[in-house]
Amino acid sequence: MTIRRSADWVADKNDIYNRVLEAKQAGKRVGLVPTMGNLHDGHASLCRQAASETQFVVATIFVNPIQFGPGEDFASYPRTPQEDREICAQAGVDLIFAPSVETMYPAGSCTRVQVEETEKPLCGQNRPGHFVGVATVLTKLFHLVPADIAYFGLKDYQQCLVIEKMVEDLDFPLQIRKCPIVREADGLAMSSRNRYLSPEERSQASVLKRSLDQAAAEFARGERHVSRLRQAILDTIATAPLGKVDYVEILDARTLEPVNVAERPVVAALAVRFGKARLIDNMVLTAP
Ligand code: PAJ
Repeated sequence: MTIRRSADWVADKNDIYNRVLEAKQAGKRVGLVPTMGNLHDGHASLCRQAASETQFVVATIFVNPIQFGPGEDFASYPRTPQEDREICAQAGVDLIFAPSVETMYPAGSCTRVQVEETEKPLCGQNRPGHFVGVATVLTKLFHLVPADIAYFGLKDYQQCLVIEKMVEDLDFPLQIRKCPIVREADGLAMSSRNRYLSPEERSQASVLKRSLDQAAAEFARGERHVSRLRQAILDTIATAPLGKVDYVEILDARTLEPVNVAERPVVAALAVRFGKARLIDNMVLTAP
């Protein structure tokens, strides 16, 4: 018989803070995994990593309204609390913090956090205000859950850099751990938004990883011209007629500044719409 740990669930700010403080006073290192719920194995991998490095793991589940633009999918974003609780329990989460919107943003709340430079390119261009919403909610979560290490997925590459910069600039006393992208068997990065795909869109969406692999293969053969690497990605995506490109960019992997020749590590990052779903993916290209 397997004995499953069950993850407790709290919604109140004082409760979460006190529970984390108790764990710290008992000498436990605390890991934090912020999410918007509708958990899949990508999220679970962060929780498992946290459970392997800390003794008390908190996952947060909060669909953060202020990081969604007008016309984006805040209202329809999938909410699956029962399933999420099961996945958390299996992945070694001790406590889930799932506050209401009113708890996080009581009437009159108006302070926002902006990481000016890092948020500008890529998703910052197509989703104005998105990273201000992310930085603001994480500032609050980092205060409410005073963790030692917070875990984020490299699937959201720019988000990772925005968070690292914020933590550095604002002196948050915690480490950021960036975890690898978890993919489906055909290479599609796992995402809560994959469920928006029709069967036909789903089958074509595997082109995203193939396009990045194509650029990586050319990079491995010695191609360093960013314009050619980018064209290889665009040409591959063009083989999937249902894909509509938002952006394909190859930028300095550390600063997200434009580069013409990939002499230092670069990140190839893309956002492509398939029907209602806007999918993102990326790959870092580093010379051996
Ligand atoms: P969400 O999209 O739920 O993702 C929560 C965390 O899971 C993020 O760090 C994300 O990068 C990671 N993740 C998602 N899919 C992944 C995959 N396939 N492989 C590895 N990691 C993956 O990102 C957010 O929520 C929000 O912006 C949040 C940080 C919680 C702030 O509201």
